[in-house]
Amino acid sequence: MLRFALGLNAGDQQQGSAGIRPLIAGNWKMNGISASLANVREIGMKTEPIADAVDVIVFPPATLLESAAAVGLPYRIAIGGQDCSSETDGAFTGELSAEMLSDAGATFALLGHSERRRRHCETDENIRQKAIRAIDANLKAVICVGESLDEKAAGDTLTVLSKQILHAVPRTVNSSDLVIAYEPVWAIGTGRRPEDQEISEAHAHIRGQMEAVWGEGGRQIPILYGGSVDSKNAKTILRLPNVNGLLIGAASLDAAHFSAICSDAAGLASANLSI
Ligand code: PGA
Repeated sequence: MLRFALGLNAGDQQQGSAGIRPLIAGNWKMNGISASLANVREIGMKTEPIADAVDVIVFPPATLLESAAAVGLPYRIAIGGQDCSSETDGAFTGELSAEMLSDAGATFALLGHSERRRRHCETDENIRQKAIRAIDANLKAVICVGESLDEKAAGDTLTVLSKQILHAVPRTVNSSDLVIAYEPVWAIGTGRRPEDQEISEAHAHIRGQMEAVWGEGGRQIPILYGGSVDSKNAKTILRLPNVNGLLIGAASLDAAHFSAICSDAAGLASANLSI
């Protein structure tokens, strides 16, 4: 199981909060066939020297979970499912239970991604139930939140985040089983992202919500930023307060770019450890 409390990043240090080891996650979405396992291996070979400084997760399509977990294991790359059912078993054609993901070697479940919210009409309540199932099956739940462009234009970003967190994040679970990903819907796959200050505000807001529920434990919940992250902007974003890692879509399909981002995160963490 991955640990979250070894490193420091610049943001945490500026905030004076306890260190959280950076977590870099690649969401492959509906991309990848067995030949793509070579990418997992390449990421593994490139990130092996920094595996003590950064946690690396790949979310491949479900068909590759078991084989990706086997390839990633020696390199300490964790594997996650891109969704799980809110049910445990039964007549739910096409769905995968959290237990099945775990059985296939996953240790994380990505939940409430905006593509699932939009295309599959997932509500915050569905997502909360899925998170409970995931954690019951010994997976860590990575819960995505984020505002649409209209909500941003209306100045409602923080209100939307509060509402999504209130309804989608279960409060009856251990804080150590949670990761939050702030992904503005309008930034996903568009090449656009919020200003640094906007990311900082959103992450500070989420941190406040986590601390309000879990106290000290809430200070240790990793908060990832996602949406048009690439190897050029990753370092800048990772330096922002309360940004503990990244959730990366398109750029995670390129092993060299993804590994470079992992190295940036490890470099920032080590630089802060040596201060
Ligand atoms: P992107 O996707 O990095 O391609 O914008 C991020 C995501 O959907 O998690």
